[in-house]
Amino acid sequence: MTETVHVPLGDRAYDVRIGSGLIARAGAEIAPLLHRPEVAIVTDETVAAAHLATLQDALRAEGIASSALTLPPGEATKSWPHLIRTVEWLLDQKVERRGVVIALGGGVVGDLVGFAAAILRRGVRFVQIPTSLLAQVDSSVGGKTGINAPQGKNLIGAFHQPSLVLADIDALATLTARDFLAGYGEVVKYGLLGDAAFFEWLEENGPALAEGDVASRAYAVRRSVEMKADIVVRDETEQGDRALLNLGHTFCHALEAATGYSDRLLHGEGVSIGCALAFELSSRLGLCSQEVPSRVRAHLSAMKMKTDLSDIPGDLPGAEALLDLMGQDKKVIDGQLRFILARGIGAAFVTSDVPRDAVLSVLDDALRAR
Ligand code: GLY
Repeated sequence: MTETVHVPLGDRAYDVRIGSGLIARAGAEIAPLLHRPEVAIVTDETVAAAHLATLQDALRAEGIASSALTLPPGEATKSWPHLIRTVEWLLDQKVERRGVVIALGGGVVGDLVGFAAAILRRGVRFVQIPTSLLAQVDSSVGGKTGINAPQGKNLIGAFHQPSLVLADIDALATLTARDFLAGYGEVVKYGLLGDAAFFEWLEENGPALAEGDVASRAYAVRRSVEMKADIVVRDETEQGDRALLNLGHTFCHALEAATGYSDRLLHGEGVSIGCALAFELSSRLGLCSQEVPSRVRAHLSAMKMKTDLSDIPGDLPGAEALLDLMGQDKKVIDGQLRFILARGIGAAFVTSDVPRDAVLSVLDDALRAR
């Protein structure tokens, strides 16, 4: 069964389709968008091996011709050289102003290809076919596109909404357990930030979901996308509420920078540890009871996710240095760090009013427990 979450953004509105076998049906899903029966696909080597032939067969079955560019996998692809290569390849394919580009892959491919589509001929339409859990529940929805700069992640980019998102739940079966759980960090985030009942559902159903239960995976993706869509519609360009989606991310970005954006810590793992720290900070500031961060950590550990700083291999800098790294975050406004704190599970809010000492003491204690 395929479910649809509509993202009502006026003339930029689109559907997110969620279900099994969507890549194999992609031709029929995409055909209504096309003026001419041709598309250009950009993917990476890992995803191409698993899904490109299925996608091209599905397009061919509807009479749609396709060409494909396969990039190297990994975060380093979100860079100027690969953006240039992608844009020039799309021009070589003669993708016109009314043409459609398909991003087939995880967050790296989705962000890079979305940005290429945003700047190609001042903007062409694109379809996201997210194949990782992280991309299905977060990066493929909401129109944030871009690449990394030497100065930091995602510093170059544009808001450019996709015209359609096809989240094929079957694609999650090809993920490693580590990648799946990293994406699950973002799923938990939605429960924690705005839906206590969803968090409770995850406490009960998380293990089945990790083991591959398709119906619970589909429900978790749908609920996450509904929550994301709701927030994006309220605040498309992150002037306010959209920052709620950054729960756990202020800590996460410092930890990712401290570990060199390497395999030591995947983004979703940093989000999971960051959420635990954000709830710890909230409790120390008297916003919620001590049981709340314990409950958050209990679920993360039950799912065998990274939960504490001790779950990060290798050395970490001290608390002051981590706090400095937080100051490099692109979400700093007028030099003020913004935190997402919570008055309980499902009750997050955005604030700049956090005493530096409180953050330092949370970090100090977390480092000491390593
Ligand atoms: N990933 C955060 C956002 O889309 O705003």
